[in-house]
Amino acid sequence: MSRRSSTYHDYLQLNKLLACQLPPSLETESNEDTRELIHHEELLFITMHQTIELWFVMAKADLGLARDLIGRPNEDDKQVPEEDIPKACTLLQRNSELFKLLTSQFTIIETMAPLNFLAFRDQLIPASGFQSWQFREVEILAGLSESERINFEGKPYFSEMPEEHRKKVAARVEEMSLRDAVIGWLARTPVDEAFPNFVETFLKAHDDYIDEQVEHQKKNPHLGAEQLAKIIERFGQSKEKARVFFCEGDETARKARVALVFISTYRDEPLLRWPYALITQALEFEEHFRLFRFRHARMVERMIGLRVGSGGSNGVSYLDATASQYRIFGDLLQSVSYLVDKSRLPAESPNAEILRFKFGGI
Ligand code: HEM
Repeated sequence: MSRRSSTYHDYLQLNKLLACQLPPSLETESNEDTRELIHHEELLFITMHQTIELWFVMAKADLGLARDLIGRPNEDDKQVPEEDIPKACTLLQRNSELFKLLTSQFTIIETMAPLNFLAFRDQLIPASGFQSWQFREVEILAGLSESERINFEGKPYFSEMPEEHRKKVAARVEEMSLRDAVIGWLARTPVDEAFPNFVETFLKAHDDYIDEQVEHQKKNPHLGAEQLAKIIERFGQSKEKARVFFCEGDETARKARVALVFISTYRDEPLLRWPYALITQALEFEEHFRLFRFRHARMVERMIGLRVGSGGSNGVSYLDATASQYRIFGDLLQSVSYLVDKSRLPAESPNAEILRFKFGGI
């Protein structure tokens, strides 16, 4: 293989990269006294956005590869090669670390005083992070569907984007998402074959557990009759909800929920360690992605209070709504509400042979 020789700055194309960092206020601000300060703070503002956009490139690459590893099983046996699970875990773990890093960067921008930001903010309008097509690609690639989006001032979120960015976003909508890949992979888990009647056995154990909780509450001397009745009703509802959750609805989603409970229950079985690690990494990635949104909203609150966003939204309330409502594995995660310790299930382990042949290569 021939070696390409190049210098540090050629290899990284630093001349091109660093030329983009120049703050526009340097050219537009005429007042000599304020020009230096505005320039300085705008340099910070631009650097923050640009570094985060650079990292979004990496986030898309890693999420796309993780999605491909999990979501494209072999044609013949519909299994994912065993060695691909640890690879996907590493990619998802890296994305969690990446979003942790991006989230931590908001403390740097918070060193800018709100009035220093205000000094150049008006020149930005209507530019806003809302128009970041790469952020939209990450959201879609992760699994946010178009129907789950909050209505933004009655117009599509891509309405301000140039045609070339719209096309990139539209292409992502057509692709398989990480959520689809993880749910499809979980749904292929042969739970019934490894442990016949797992769902019924599990639901019975869950019912017994709830009954014990009710008995426990009945012994609480501080509860009045009315309060106790409410609690008992709530417990009764959770039995019913568990049944609906694991027995009804879309078949792929249902199977994935069952698989998550199965893998979580028997996570110490050697063959289930990697599948459990993958679930953990997928849920962890979503958590850090959500924390990024939440932390951005807190920084924005400090910087502009309740002002209207430069992109025209109602600012912090819009950002808080996306942080709390946009989910990737929200449905799957609900399975955790019904977990019971494996000591409550029959003593024998799931059929390891079936796991080895049918599941070992997940
Ligand atoms: C002084 C700093 C910042 C302020 C005041 C600010 C403010 C806002 C506001 C108000 C919105 C809502 C849309 C709008 O009406 O404009 C928004 C959206 C957004 N901002 Fe920022 N932002 C700041 C820094 C950043 C940085 C450093 C990034 C990193 C790339 C960023 C990324 C985003 C993204 C991705 C959205 C879309 C969020 C969504 O739709 O859920 N922002 N920003």
